[in-house]
Amino acid sequence: MSKLENIQACVFDAYGTLFDVNAAAERCRDSIGENAGKLAEIWRLKQLQYTWLRSLMDEYEDFWAITGQSLDFALNSLGMSDPKLRARLMELYLELDTYPEVSNMLKTLKDSGMKTAILSNGSPSMLLSAVKNAGIYQLLDQTISVDTIGVYKPHPGVYQLAVDGLDVAAENICFLSSNGWDAHGAAHFGFQVVWINRFGQKRENLPGVLADEISTLDQLPALIGIGG
Ligand code: LAC
Repeated sequence: MSKLENIQACVFDAYGTLFDVNAAAERCRDSIGENAGKLAEIWRLKQLQYTWLRSLMDEYEDFWAITGQSLDFALNSLGMSDPKLRARLMELYLELDTYPEVSNMLKTLKDSGMKTAILSNGSPSMLLSAVKNAGIYQLLDQTISVDTIGVYKPHPGVYQLAVDGLDVAAENICFLSSNGWDAHGAAHFGFQVVWINRFGQKRENLPGVLADEISTLDQLPALIGIGG
């Protein structure tokens, strides 16, 4: 029995949920070498920290700028500052791989008439590039960016953008994120949230009750009563 009921729209986090954020550093392993994993880890950690810190400081800059600033920190930490490598990594961020199951899962949802959207910290142009490169543009009804309101997740105003954009009540939206803190933020707001725990992480001790937890998105359609 699914714990999710009356779902009218599925709203996805982008980075780490649909798109593999480690793919850029992995594709540069030829020049980065064994530090590729470490670079990806510091880059991502700093990128998220900067979104939270800037939101608290009320000093919004878009996610593209923050992605560059956090990459500079990561490269500097590993003693690898190099303008050419930086430029290549930033370019690759615009064409990250999706996780293998993403395209088929979205097709299944669309075929059943489900509304689909992305709700992300990403800037509108970053998201458009990523979505078009991955060939999933036509499988999404909307791609919604925090840029409209100039504050990052998990501010409740961000989650409200999906309610307003899709014209679907919060309790009828299934929100999917692999980022535990984002999943809790969305559940606290009022969505039915499924945590995509791709990396076998422990539960966060944060407000918001998660409806369910799965390890990959191909388990989603069955969870909301679609297909087989
Ligand atoms: C996003 C970040 C949180 O896409 O991954 O919003």
